[in-house]
Amino acid sequence: MTPFDYEFLRKMLKERSGLDLSADKQYLVESRLIPLARKAGLPGLPELVQKLKGGTEALTADVVEAMTTNETFFFRDKVPFDHLKATVMPELLQARAGRRSLRIWCAASSTGQEPYSIAMCLKELGAALTGWRVEIVATDLSQGVLEKSRAGLFSQFEVQRGLPIQLLVKHFAQTGELWQLNADIRAMVQFRQLNLLQDFSHLGVFDIIFCRNVLIYFDQDTKTNVFGRLSRMIEPDGFLMLGAAETVVGLTEAFKPYPDRRGLYIPNVAGRARAGQPALRAVASR
Ligand SMILES: C[S@@+](CC[C@H](N)C(=O)[O-])C[C@H]1O[C@@H](n2cnc3c(N)ncnc32)[C@H](O)[C@@H]1O
Repeated sequence: MTPFDYEFLRKMLKERSGLDLSADKQYLVESRLIPLARKAGLPGLPELVQKLKGGTEALTADVVEAMTTNETFFFRDKVPFDHLKATVMPELLQARAGRRSLRIWCAASSTGQEPYSIAMCLKELGAALTGWRVEIVATDLSQGVLEKSRAGLFSQFEVQRGLPIQLLVKHFAQTGELWQLNADIRAMVQFRQLNLLQDFSHLGVFDIIFCRNVLIYFDQDTKTNVFGRLSRMIEPDGFLMLGAAETVVGLTEAFKPYPDRRGLYIPNVAGRARAGQPALRAVASR
């Protein structure tokens, strides 16, 4: 691949998915795209680039998809799910007691382990959510991961990563060598294709947004842009959960860290008090 070919791919990937590849990631592009070129019946990357320049939309989508990193697992990093159970849900159960509805968005859901982990957490709340309308919307750029997510089928290796055995026994059924999530948990999550670089205001407003381990691939301006648009999609007393290597600090004033809860952020709304726990929000706004 010539430096011009690499530059073409770098620019295209940044425009299409936000992926911000540094100049030294040529090996990564080659390792992911040479198999794709072969599958498309092309001898190598120069021919793939030529074809992309000809403007084939399906091939462009395949290239973007091949370059996404879909690493995920059940209850990834554990702490966010502890925050969900111990901080976020108690606050929202109180704050939404009048309308008894809750909307959660998982904004880069990969193969589904994250939104299904959220669904299992909510299920474990049992009677506390009886009679509530709970919506979990899970989105990802990649059609391939969404198809896998919808099936709710996971390998032995996947269910051994992060999923407590009690939840495996309770919420999964073994089918051959795979494990399928029970229909009640699958029905709690709606999967849709969505590119975070594009307008997502049509999704409506959420009480909780999980946007974990995707912004790390974007440059600073793109992160700031996404945070700005996320802030318009979240209730003033809602929550934003980021990945362990992600922060809003230095990128946006739209959110601020929730005190003593790593990875948890709240909209930076002046004078806002949280129902039931105004003192906490007063601390948070300092
Ligand atoms: C590393 S996975 C993270 C999955 C999950 N959030 C977690 O933390 O385990 C990143 C996901 O972001 C998706 N992604 C990458 N660029 C995206 C974009 N521009 N819009 C939406 N999703 C994107 C990828 O397809 C991939 O599934």
